[in-house]
Amino acid sequence: MAGIADEIALIDIVPGLAASTALDLNHASGITGTCARCVGGDSLELVAGAEVVVVTAGRARRPGMSRADLVEVNARVIRRSAEAIRSAAPNAVVIVVTNPLDEMTVEMLRATGFPRNRVLGMAGTLDSGRFRSALAAAARVAPADVEAFALGSHGDEMAPISSRARIKGRSLDVFLSSRQVAASVREAITGGSQVVALKKSGSATIAPAHAAIELIDHIRGARTGPVPVSVMLQGEYGIEGVVLGVPAHLGAGGLVEVEELRLTAEERAALQRAGDAVRSRLRS
Ligand code: LAC
Repeated sequence: MAGIADEIALIDIVPGLAASTALDLNHASGITGTCARCVGGDSLELVAGAEVVVVTAGRARRPGMSRADLVEVNARVIRRSAEAIRSAAPNAVVIVVTNPLDEMTVEMLRATGFPRNRVLGMAGTLDSGRFRSALAAAARVAPADVEAFALGSHGDEMAPISSRARIKGRSLDVFLSSRQVAASVREAITGGSQVVALKKSGSATIAPAHAAIELIDHIRGARTGPVPVSVMLQGEYGIEGVVLGVPAHLGAGGLVEVEELRLTAEERAALQRAGDAVRSRLRS
């Protein structure tokens, strides 16, 4: 509907679900006027020739579960998806959404054998959106007046970056007390779990979909500038061999370059802790 693709193939293991959703979306195009055509089915072969593959396949959390509780079961799903992508869409840029996000992005990298620039994890745009939404509500301003991003892991070790956040171009303390800022940071970190606790049968879909579209917009050149995205680090921020959310420039081939921003010592330490935590959860 956002007019960002000529063709969209939906794949789901539940018979009829992807095909019916594709049909429903095509019907909607008669109203929205979008030119994108949708196809849907349960065969992984539908991934053939894709330029961008968004992988959400896997179990979602149930109330009380952490994202990390899904490592084993979802790693198997990622490996099967990776096989199909490697053979049918060998030039695709892959955006992993499956949780636990950073660990599953590593799994996708390993299983496809793709270079790091073509395997991205979507978390930073979602977590940053939640952070901005919370800051905007606390300061009673429009979300568009807030610039802020979250780095680190997509979980308890998330690192919403307050030092560089701005409301109407000014630092947070002009509008908010340190307690309000801390509460907004908590909102960003717990936002996903709050949705799971209310919904009971799955996780959020609407904000994650918009957050994935934001990444695709960077890949296709409709947006520029650094965007928070999970990538395999090769020494950036002093971290090596682990996937973590960092600001980066994207283009048609995926990752162009990680941008190393000046962070406070505390924020750098939070990134280090996130890297250590993700590393400790990786299968060897
Ligand atoms: C969330 C899931 C998608 O944060 O991880 O809502």
